[in-house]
Amino acid sequence: MLYLHMNSPFTFGKIAKGNNFTDRAFETKRLLANFDDKVNTILISPRRWGKSSLVNKSASLFQKEKNKHSVMIDLFNIRDEAQFYSYFAKKIIQETSSKPREWIDTAMSFLKRLSPKVSFPIDRTNDFEITFELRDKAEDFEDILNLPEKIARAKKIEIAVCIDEFQNIANFNQPLLFQKRLRASWQNHKDTVYCLYGSQTHMMTTLFERKSMPFYKFGDVMYLGKIDSTYLTEYIIKQFRNTGKSADAGHAQLIVDNVQCQPYYTQQLAHIVWINTERKVTKEIFESSLTELIEQNAPLYIKDAETLSNTQINFLNMLIESERKDIYAKELIQKYRLGTSGNVTKIRSVLINKEIIHLVNSKYELVDPVFRLWLKNIYFKS
Ligand SMILES: Nc1ncnc2c1ncn2[C@@H]1O[C@H](COP(=O)(O)OP(=O)(O)OP(=O)(O)O)[C@@H](O)[C@H]1O
Ligand SMILES: [Mg+2]
Repeated sequence: MLYLHMNSPFTFGKIAKGNNFTDRAFETKRLLANFDDKVNTILISPRRWGKSSLVNKSASLFQKEKNKHSVMIDLFNIRDEAQFYSYFAKKIIQETSSKPREWIDTAMSFLKRLSPKVSFPIDRTNDFEITFELRDKAEDFEDILNLPEKIARAKKIEIAVCIDEFQNIANFNQPLLFQKRLRASWQNHKDTVYCLYGSQTHMMTTLFERKSMPFYKFGDVMYLGKIDSTYLTEYIIKQFRNTGKSADAGHAQLIVDNVQCQPYYTQQLAHIVWINTERKVTKEIFESSLTELIEQNAPLYIKDAETLSNTQINFLNMLIESERKDIYAKELIQKYRLGTSGNVTKIRSVLINKEIIHLVNSKYELVDPVFRLWLKNIYFKS
């Protein structure tokens, strides 16, 4: 018999695209409509629920139309405001030019006052760097922040600027001043639209939903949910089938249920099951794969658990075992040795800030479903 080597049909830790992207039809449409109508969007969800993949999809659809451009900016590695301006200007120029020869001209004609220095790194072809001598003057920042709008008007194009890991601006020196600068320029733009997205739900929510914050009412705030269980099970069944293996509905459902429909872990667990399956998924294969998933991630969870105090751990145990809404119930506080109700309030807000728990349908849940399994099956058992 001839066995062809097949690559796993599941993907995790990368942007989900093409065959690996499922569901989200409603969100994709809403985001695309916002781009077309120049309605700014703020997209918030916990880590790994699919923000980058969703924005990537809508941004690609947007720029399928002539004269529409998407600029994807990731603040992952950006540590201060100066770095932000260089990176922002570079990306805007790059993505709106048809050829590298235009880069210098564009920089010179739109940012002349800032005497930009353009350089070409030798280790990267088709790339360039731009730096400025910024004085601490409003016009200097405005020149850069208004760059997309000026280019859009001059070239008669529309631009969607998508800024990922937006929560990173909290690490800048003066985050509030920086936000004021962005907002002051961007709110006047007509041909440029912004999509700001990131995790650390609590912080993102503060940035965009507090009245006193510069970005209050900047646009349409979207809270991304998990992916629907029906889509995920269908996806798993299809990916197995397309690679000559089979997973029945029951096993696909087990995969999805155990990771509580979280997109990243669904793909990771399905991947492990797929690797362990020669032809057909069985209960035994599923179970050993689930153990493998928990073990693979255990080093991270051990580290996370080390940063928590005993009462915080007890609180998590209470959530996992009791699955109750009334976290202040006297008998729970006693049973799990949580101290006073004031203590519970404190624990709750620390765990929310650390993105370890969140409120779903007025009930506190662990954000990470596999961390939950690890605590339940391994940590609290030993
Ligand atoms: N629409 C989707 N269909 C199938 N799987 C998806 C989808 N969206 C996300 N995933 C899975 O979740 C993983 C994480 O997705 P993505 O990087 O888009 O999330 P994120 O919210 O941007 O994460 P982070 O908070 O780490 O930036 C992907 O690698 C993929 O495995
Ligand atoms: Mg992301």
